[in-house]
Amino acid sequence: MKLNIALLPGDGIGPEVIEQAVKVSNAIAKKFNHSINWMHALTGAAAIDAVGEPYPKETHEICLKADAILFGAIGHPRFDNDPSAKVRPEQGLLKMRKDLGLFANVRPTFTFPSLIDKSPLKKERIEGTNLIFLRELTGGIYFGKRGRLDNGNTAFDTCTYTRKEIKRLAIKGFELAMKRSNRLCCVDKANVLESSRLWRETVQSLEKDYPSVKVSYEFVDAVAMRLVQWPNSYDVLITENLFGDILTDEASVISGSMGLMPSASVGLKTSLYEPIHGSYPQAAGKNIANPLATILSAAMMFEDAFNLQKEADLIRSVVNSSLKQSIVSEDLADGNKSYKTSEIGDWLVKEII
Ligand code: IPM
Ligand code: MN
Repeated sequence: MKLNIALLPGDGIGPEVIEQAVKVSNAIAKKFNHSINWMHALTGAAAIDAVGEPYPKETHEICLKADAILFGAIGHPRFDNDPSAKVRPEQGLLKMRKDLGLFANVRPTFTFPSLIDKSPLKKERIEGTNLIFLRELTGGIYFGKRGRLDNGNTAFDTCTYTRKEIKRLAIKGFELAMKRSNRLCCVDKANVLESSRLWRETVQSLEKDYPSVKVSYEFVDAVAMRLVQWPNSYDVLITENLFGDILTDEASVISGSMGLMPSASVGLKTSLYEPIHGSYPQAAGKNIANPLATILSAAMMFEDAFNLQKEADLIRSVVNSSLKQSIVSEDLADGNKSYKTSEIGDWLVKEII
């Protein structure tokens, strides 16, 4: 099979972790007789430096032409510390999500048996956790009207949702729940927010179409608590953009390291695969970042975008072996021997071939 994949390394540790995912994907392609056409494109601070904008038109065109997109990370501290910056790398990410219609962000959280003791949470609480957040990605407060009033002394951001936006995300949630345990949790703040009330109303109106799915409605503050108390009591959770952003960072701690969790963004035109961690600028260029979240994102890509299950399974299986044999980066080494980002990539390639 010929796979056209847009490759967007982005900023910080993005290029280093992407390089490992490329190595692993190429090894998989070789083993299973596929040919990958990597289509390189710029995003984030790297694109601002090169062409003055974080999501250039050429990048958008490459993304549309490709069958799937593999993405590293975006963000650079020189913009974080400059509130007056006119162009920010993150704007590129938001524009990319919006322009590509990537309205559903699939963020799984699961535990690895060999890493169960690395989590700051107690083993008996997290064992067996295997949940998926479906985070709405192209609406809400991220894209609402914002601005300043009162000579800059008052600021506002607005959270707007249409029934249509909620419905298409919720349908994905119901469908996913039916493939799993038929349990769906709708996370909102309907005791306070009007937009949340529309979420709840819309999800309730869909229940009759999915009679096998049992839906629970929970407030976001309570979910934040139960997520660390009894994460294994959840299965599929659907939520709006900002709640999903916050809860998925929280949930990633369960697995033991943020450097482990992959994600997929799907929707109208194409699909994009990326680690849930950020650009981790402190580690950039040091060859110490954990590449596994990106490599596992590539596995999600083989599985979802190309329907190549054996290929995805093999990636997951070699990743599991590396963890079992403690071929791990600094974040998981606990002061014991750690491996460089590129060494982990090389080790996985050797296991595949
Ligand atoms: C994420 C990130 C982004 C977000 C940032 C970088 C804009 O935190 O993908 O979760 O808030 O969506
Ligand atoms: Mn985030």
